Amino acid sequence: MSPRLSVRDIANRKGAEPIVCVTAYTAPMAGFMDPYVDLMLVGDSMGMVIYGMATTLGVTLDMSIAHGQAVMRGSAKACVVVDLPFGSYQASKVDAYKAAARVMSEVGCAAVKLEGGREMAETIEHLTQRGIPVMAHVGLKPQSVNAVGGFRVQGRTPDEARAIVADAKAVSNAGAFCVVIEGTVESLARDITRAIPIPTIGIGASSACDGQVIVTEDILGLYGAFTPKFVKRYAELGVSVSEAVASYAADVRARKFPGPEHVYGAAPAKKKPLKKKR
Ligand code: KIV
Repeated sequence: MSPRLSVRDIANRKGAEPIVCVTAYTAPMAGFMDPYVDLMLVGDSMGMVIYGMATTLGVTLDMSIAHGQAVMRGSAKACVVVDLPFGSYQASKVDAYKAAARVMSEVGCAAVKLEGGREMAETIEHLTQRGIPVMAHVGLKPQSVNAVGGFRVQGRTPDEARAIVADAKAVSNAGAFCVVIEGTVESLARDITRAIPIPTIGIGASSACDGQVIVTEDILGLYGAFTPKFVKRYAELGVSVSEAVASYAADVRARKFPGPEHVYGAAPAKKKPLKKKR
């Protein structure tokens, strides 16, 4: 039996102990976080926080797979889910199956995530009926940032709120094992969490959800471009990195590093054997 949490374990946590999810993209970071979390998402946020892109749209399937493999190698317990990147699943449910099957077989993860509500219900049903568990994603959908005019909070008006409830119900009915709700108001997150039988995982959607996901680089102070209101900084690792590298640079310039304790000694000279006299 795998020691990892399964998608069933996650689904069964509905209404019970909160589900803890972080994003992970590399083996060392996955190893540091694995003992403390339930779910690790290899999110397409990697495009922004690892690769310095302005949006998530430039992430490719090969990138998702390579980072997914790294996270699997670095972790042992968490349920690992990999994002299907922009363009890999929207055109048709057949495309979606091909992309998801590649991820599942090459990464060995537990599930894929895709963005979308009612418009993706048929695709989610297609994947889940063919053995691919799906985490859905409604509310603010970063892959649609160009269509909605930026990273802005969704569901503030009654019409928007009704649409997001309908999206959440549609993905739940289609067979998703849980759903990310991103960037919306607390009352709506609470209504959705009460209305559907699968866990809701919030990001910028309040503690009314069944669990939380966060972009790890945001809470560790490793991504400086902007800090959304919903992010709490638990560390300032970016500052620590700058300070450490500044000290290293000063030591190198002052010839203080490497010191004697960092230097390899030469092998002791071998004694020559004495020549026998005749
Ligand atoms: O890509 C990502 O990290 C995500 C989370 C923000 C949910 O989709």
